[in-house]
Amino acid sequence: MTTIGTPLSPHATKVMLLGSGELGKEVLIALQRLGVETIAVDRYDHAPGQQVAHHARTITMSDPQQLKALIEAERPHLVVPEIEAIATPMLEELEAAGVVRVIPTARAARLTMDREGIRRLAAETLGLPTSPHRFCDSLEELQAAIDGTENGGQGHRGIGYPCIVKPVMSSSGKGQSKIDAPADVKKAWDYAMAGGRVGPGRVIVEGFIDFDYEITQLTVRALDAHGQVQTHFCDPIGHVQVSGDYVESWQPHPMSPAALAESRRIAQAVTDNLGGQGLFGVELFVKGDQVWFSEVSPRPHDTGMVTMVTQWQNEFELHARAILGLPVDTTLKSPGASAVIYGGVDAQGIVFDGVDEALRVPHSEVRLFGKPESFVKRRMGVALVFDEDVEVARTQAKRAASKVQPKRV
Ligand SMILES: Nc1ncnc2c1ncn2[C@@H]1O[C@H](COP(=O)(O)OP(=O)(O)O)[C@@H](O)[C@H]1O
Ligand SMILES: [Mg+2]
Repeated sequence: MTTIGTPLSPHATKVMLLGSGELGKEVLIALQRLGVETIAVDRYDHAPGQQVAHHARTITMSDPQQLKALIEAERPHLVVPEIEAIATPMLEELEAAGVVRVIPTARAARLTMDREGIRRLAAETLGLPTSPHRFCDSLEELQAAIDGTENGGQGHRGIGYPCIVKPVMSSSGKGQSKIDAPADVKKAWDYAMAGGRVGPGRVIVEGFIDFDYEITQLTVRALDAHGQVQTHFCDPIGHVQVSGDYVESWQPHPMSPAALAESRRIAQAVTDNLGGQGLFGVELFVKGDQVWFSEVSPRPHDTGMVTMVTQWQNEFELHARAILGLPVDTTLKSPGASAVIYGGVDAQGIVFDGVDEALRVPHSEVRLFGKPESFVKRRMGVALVFDEDVEVARTQAKRAASKVQPKRV
C-alpha cells in the first residue's frame, strides 16, 4: 500500500530531482499534484523545475561530496536523476547503505550515464541487435576501428564508412558527427573531444544504420495490485533528429506488427535488466521488420513531451505514479505531435512574441520552460498539437512553434 504524507509536515513524502530542466519540471508538477514534497536540484539557479518545486538547491551534481552532503541533509525518500552528468558511484554507495532509493536504480543511472555501459549491456550481456561499434581512446584507434586494422587486423571487420562518432559522455548530439570519408576522421575526433562532458576522452564509433525511421518506445515498470512489477508500453513515438538533437516528435508512429513486437521485446529485455520502478525511453532504429537498439533513458524522454497532449497520463505522470508505487495507464487519448521552440539568440532574460498566434492554431498548446538564459540552439519551449490525423498534427505543431518568436530585450 502506498501512503503519501502532507508536504512541509514531518510526515511529508519527499522526492529529490537531480536535474531540473524542462523534463524535471513536468515530473515535479506531476509529483506536486500528488501531494509530494519536492526538492529541485540543478547546477544553476532558477532552473525550470526549481520554479515549481517546494525547495530549490544549486550544487555541482557531478561532485560526489556535494551530492552526498545534500542527500544526507535533505533525506528524501526517493532520488530521481533527470540528467546523466551525476556522480552515480556515490548514488550507488548511498543506495547500498540504505540512505536513499534511487530511481529506477543507482545501477541503471550509472550504466546509462555513459554510452559504453549501456551499449555493452545491450550488445554483449543481453545479445540485442545494435549498430556495429567500437570504443576508442585516440585518433589512431578511431582510424584503426574504422579500417579494421586494430590488433593487426585480426578477427574484426572494420566499421567502414559512413559511420558516426560520439563522445561516450555526451547527450543531445553534443560532440557527435557523421564520417563519410577518410578525410573527415580527424575533424570528427576533434569535434568529439571538444563536445564531450568530461575532459579529453573516449568515443564510440558506430556503423551508420540506414533506418527507415526511428522511434522512442516509452516503457513503464510499475507495481500492480499485488506489489509485483508489471511492464507497460506506450504507443510508439516517431521523431526527427537534426545533428543528434530532437526537433519534432509524434505519436503514434505506424509500425508493422513484427517491428512493433521486436521493439517491445528489446525494450522489455533492457528495462527488465535495469530494473526498479519508473518510466524509460528506449530509442530504436527500424528498417522494414528489423529493429536495432540505440540507447535508453531511465527517465522521461525529450521526444515524449508529445504525450502531454496524446495520452491520458503523460510520460511525466506515468513516471511520478510508477516511482511512488501507484497504478499506471498508458492509453493513448489522441494522436498528436510536438515541435521544439529554439532560443534563436544568445541572451539572458529573453521575451517571446507571438504566443497568442501560436495558440490560435487549433488544438494547440505551448510550453515555455522559463530558462533564464537562451542560446541559439537551446530548447526554450515546445509546441504541442493533437489531431486525429498525425500528419496534420505534425504540420500544425511546426506551424505553432514557428509563430513563437524569441527576442532579446
Ligand atoms: N549508428 C547510427 N546510425 C544512424 N543514425 C544514428 C546512429 N547513431 C545515432 N544516430 C542518429 O543520431 C541521433 C542521436 O544519437 P544518440 O546516440 O541517440 O545520441 P544522444 O545521446 O545525444 O541522443 C539518433 O537519434 C539518430 O537519429
Ligand atoms: Mg538519443
